[in-house]
Amino acid sequence: MAQGHGETAAAVHGDGIRLSGVTRRYGDVVAVAGLDLAVPRHTRLGIVGPSGCGKSTVLSMVSGLENPDEGVVEVLGDTAPAARLARCAWMPQRDLLLPWRTVLANACVSLENRGVSRREARERVRPLFARFGLAGFEDRRPYELSGGMRQRVSFLRTLVADKDVLLLDEPFGALDSITRAGVQDWLRDTLDAEPRTVVLVTHDVEEALLLSHEVVVMSSRPGRVAARLPVELPPAGSRRELLATPEFVRLRDALLAHLEG
Ligand SMILES: Nc1ncnc2c1ncn2[C@@H]1O[C@H](COP(=O)(O)OP(=O)(O)OP(=O)(O)O)[C@@H](O)[C@H]1O
Ligand SMILES: [Mg+2]
Repeated sequence: MAQGHGETAAAVHGDGIRLSGVTRRYGDVVAVAGLDLAVPRHTRLGIVGPSGCGKSTVLSMVSGLENPDEGVVEVLGDTAPAARLARCAWMPQRDLLLPWRTVLANACVSLENRGVSRREARERVRPLFARFGLAGFEDRRPYELSGGMRQRVSFLRTLVADKDVLLLDEPFGALDSITRAGVQDWLRDTLDAEPRTVVLVTHDVEEALLLSHEVVVMSSRPGRVAARLPVELPPAGSRRELLATPEFVRLRDALLAHLEG
């Protein structure tokens, strides 16, 4: 392994995210059972699977908000819940925007929580509003936005938190397909340029393949890993060209077959 500053930092912070033999129960319901997952640092794992198979449960355990009943969850070398919480930016499935704050102030929350001044947070976040189709809505309250717009604000807030680990729970589910394609492309370029360790839960097979280095299919409850697919795609020009490559078509078919099986 090459010597260098980056390698040293990686060694200090451990090896990405690891779940070993994780079981989580809610009363009689076994949400996940004996789950093993590994997300090497600065790679992106996609999780797909039927409703109720424990995908959101996995994210909340990684984030440190919940703990497994059995097994170990490790995030960048730490297993303590508070340390996991400190490293993760979590975008929950339902947007948890603060109704009394404006949209811009909501998007700034995570930066302000880290001690960035309100003014500086706004300067950093404001330019991103246009990219997400939110320009002109900075001073509105969440109830004045559509569901898809609220979702984009929630996503922005997660991204600007500037954490090593991003946990995204169906981040673009409420977006129309054109907007979704634009945001996916932007996210892929952004994460290629500034890698983070990402777990992405989605019901959208194309989204999983476009954004992930590996996709796991979870079985229905209790959630286990039913299949793993490494995603290796050719460097294609446009999104449409990429979606039409034999590699993409093969991966999409394989993923759909696992989901149907
Ligand atoms: N806080 C909770 N209390 C009780 N049961 C819960 C709780 N959270 C999750 N569950 C149960 O655990 C199981 C897995 O839920 P989870 O939300 O992780 O599924 P999911 O894969 O994210 O589903 P979806 O695709 O519909 O979002 C479900 O049966 C759910 O009812
Ligand atoms: Mg869920």
